[in-house]
Amino acid sequence: MEAPLIAVENLEKTFRLGLRRKKVEAVRGVSFSVQDGDIFGFLGPNGAGKTTTIKMLMGLIEPTQGSARLFGEPVSHPEARRKIGFLPENPYVHPFLTPMEFVTMSGQLSGLSGAALRSRVKEVLGKTGILYAADRPVKRLSKGMLQRTGLAAALVGDPRLLILDEPMSGLDPIGRKEVKDLIIEERKNGRTIFFSTHILGDVETLCDRVTIMRKGKIVVSGQLDELLRGDDQRIAVVLLSQDSQLREYCSKNSWGFEEAGGRLRVELPGKSALAELLAYSVDKKQPVESVSPLHETLEELFVRKAILAESEQAEENQQARDAFGHR
Ligand SMILES: Nc1ncnc2c1ncn2[C@@H]1O[C@H](COP(=O)(O)OP(=O)(O)OP(=O)(O)O)[C@@H](O)[C@H]1O
Ligand SMILES: [Mg+2]
Repeated sequence: MEAPLIAVENLEKTFRLGLRRKKVEAVRGVSFSVQDGDIFGFLGPNGAGKTTTIKMLMGLIEPTQGSARLFGEPVSHPEARRKIGFLPENPYVHPFLTPMEFVTMSGQLSGLSGAALRSRVKEVLGKTGILYAADRPVKRLSKGMLQRTGLAAALVGDPRLLILDEPMSGLDPIGRKEVKDLIIEERKNGRTIFFSTHILGDVETLCDRVTIMRKGKIVVSGQLDELLRGDDQRIAVVLLSQDSQLREYCSKNSWGFEEAGGRLRVELPGKSALAELLAYSVDKKQPVESVSPLHETLEELFVRKAILAESEQAEENQQARDAFGHR
């Protein structure tokens, strides 16, 4: 079997800050892998450790521990580097260069020249929606326009793997949609895309797999549709009734409900509750209008897991304090 395009194992990065060499544990034991053809979302709030992980993947900083491999090779391997298009978090482009010049330079670095280079540069500037401003110096471009220039540079060398650090940052809603469409299109062209974002809503319709980090650790990881389906799915049932006995029955079972337009909408915690309510409704002749699964959003899943991780951590700390106190 072919090696994963990205394989990260137990990766750690600790920075030392200031004279007192204060520890900042930016990445604390992260493992994940990205398979060929994936659109992989690397998520987490500000300061979670996404950029630090990406910098280790790109060989820009050394891990404190653990390993990162690209195409089965160490990240510094030239063969692996050749197959990657990278968009850094804050793309630096010399202020006097134009998008045309910068993307041409990036194309030359990836081995293109002559007519093939010229036509590929035009093509990617068009794809990323910056062709109309391709002759303006970069210092005259807006943040979103600079972002599009960086994206064009990442694409120009026809890479098999795109590593994009916050590709939607600085873009307006239409721009974000365009970048999402571009990511989908590039996957159709055979590319694998690994991208970071701190906006969870950006990925729900886009990714196959996600990893969500928080405070340097992974809190959620897996196939997106499976994660959102959950183990014990909540279900909404709408009954064509506002019977007081039915309300009491729901309260007794601690099921949330609300009344509207002569109907009762009940939220159930899972399938066994559904079976109970349906049996009750048949028995008491309470007609059911609809039964529908309630999907957790990625945001809700993340908050739930983050709170869980926090309380587990607090419990561990407490146990450590207790053990220390009893010694
Ligand atoms: N060179 C550095 N020296 C010291 N600390 C650093 C350095 N680079 C990053 N950090 C710290 O590491 C942590 C993770 O930062 P990182 O930039 O990886 O987060 P991020 O997930 O990319 O956040 P964002 O969504 O804001 O881009 C932060 O606490 C940050 O302050
Ligand atoms: Mg970042």
